[in-house]
Amino acid sequence: MPFSYENLKRAEALIARYPHKRSALLPLLHLAQEQDGYVRPDAMRQIAEMVGVTPAEVLSTASFYTMFKLRPSGEHIVSVCTNISCMLCGAEEVLEVLEEELETAADGLSSDGKVWLEEAECLAACGGAPCVQVDYEYFENVTPRKAAEIARALRRGERPRGGLGLPADFEEGRATTGAERSASSGEGG
Ligand code: FES
Repeated sequence: MPFSYENLKRAEALIARYPHKRSALLPLLHLAQEQDGYVRPDAMRQIAEMVGVTPAEVLSTASFYTMFKLRPSGEHIVSVCTNISCMLCGAEEVLEVLEEELETAADGLSSDGKVWLEEAECLAACGGAPCVQVDYEYFENVTPRKAAEIARALRRGERPRGGLGLPADFEEGRATTGAERSASSGEGG
């Protein structure tokens, strides 16, 4: 739907931050996705009007970035890198397991409508291949068994933890976030 009254105010405030209205395009797309779970066509039309571009320009921007979804994408997004390093380290098997567990093909919604599964280009974690993201949080060195655990946890309504992504961390429940790690090593003052 178009922006709610509250989000319309937020959208106007976002636009006011930029010398050129069209520079607010990406933040407005984020706002539209935050509101509806994906960027709806009517939201794109409204954004186009607000920043003075054509709806086609908004669509071409939204469709360029994989983080913007143009159709309903469930509660969680699982992105599987199938680029070269990950492919050589078993990404295809990982993707296959996720497809089985979530009962969908890549670039589709799980049978219960909760999880969007997608193939991704290099996620810049080639040293931890194969790499998977859950809601943009990294899981590295993912084995088919780990992929199944991730999928089952999401379907149970649990949020698996990634962060460091090492298999041992995940198996032993010791995974820590980057912030926790920085805090414990005294980084960041
Ligand atoms: S190839 Fe998969 S993270 Fe780079």
